[in-house]
Amino acid sequence: MLPSDSTKKLSFTRCIKDGDLVVVYERHNVMKAVKVCETAVLQNRFGVFKHSDWIGNPFGSKVFSNKGGFVYLLAPTPELWTLVLSHRTQILYIADISFLIMYMEIVPGCLVLESGTGSGSLTTSLARAVAPTGRVHTFDFHEQRAASAREDFEKTGVSNLITVGVRDIQGEGFPVEFSGLVDSVFLDLPQPWLAIPSAAKMLKPDGILCSFSPCIEQVQQSSEMLRSKFTDIRTFEVLLRSYEVREVKNFLVDEIGSPKFPPRKRRQCSREESNAQGSSSSSTIMARPCGEARGHTGYLTFARLKCLF
Ligand SMILES: C[S@@+](CC[C@H](N)C(=O)[O-])C[C@H]1O[C@@H](n2cnc3c(N)ncnc32)[C@H](O)[C@@H]1O
Repeated sequence: MLPSDSTKKLSFTRCIKDGDLVVVYERHNVMKAVKVCETAVLQNRFGVFKHSDWIGNPFGSKVFSNKGGFVYLLAPTPELWTLVLSHRTQILYIADISFLIMYMEIVPGCLVLESGTGSGSLTTSLARAVAPTGRVHTFDFHEQRAASAREDFEKTGVSNLITVGVRDIQGEGFPVEFSGLVDSVFLDLPQPWLAIPSAAKMLKPDGILCSFSPCIEQVQQSSEMLRSKFTDIRTFEVLLRSYEVREVKNFLVDEIGSPKFPPRKRRQCSREESNAQGSSSSSTIMARPCGEARGHTGYLTFARLKCLF
């Protein structure tokens, strides 16, 4: 997960070993996590891939099946892990995660508290952000979810940066041992306002809290609770739009002469259609927003603990 070689130094040329987790990548929306086992094979629509052929190759390698088909073997970075992990709960995705890590000022060495752990999607990114000297303490009241998250953190190589606790954070708050020591607290709970008084006690002066909630009513209730001890209370909804950019040959143009984006499947265009709409034999690079854009996920509410001197 975190790029390191056998001497534990940061390295971006680490090679795949027996027992490693790799992300087998077919295309951006078809990939899966596979544990490398010298005697195992992976079978998919491209043929049979022997794991033994993968060992010793650097992450990022293109590997071939018995039929000449290929896949890429990628390192299970937090970004890719978020796309392949088993969903035991709703999870946070890259747009929210990247925004909140920046806005919460999470950097190497930070001490971060999180609840609930859920599927560990966010926790994995938090761990990489605080590495190598920081730590994430994450809590979930659901024992099985906590246990599965621990297993996942082992698999992805971040377990040395994370402690998973089983605790009802809305009912009991965070453990008092963290009082006044924590740089940031993240909440993804159904009633975050119940955990806010405890979060305030955990934070260092000027520390940052962030709460993720799918509904605006939760945001309103949390913001009300934040007002007494926090300042700079701000709520965001992060909407991501991705684009399809590709070369198109023999494209059609519309009435005003702009190129029209053809469907992805190559389609023969009839002569009448060409004449009616105009055509060109040249190629062009076309770009348009993808139809599959993810819509509303939730609201991120940030607040900074007041310094009372
Ligand atoms: C939506 S999931 C969190 C997903 C996580 N942010 C991720 O990216 O994978 C919410 C989690 O909060 C946990 N939870 C709910 N109420 C809780 C409470 N009172 N104390 C601790 N955890 C709680 C649930 O068990 C669930 O696993």
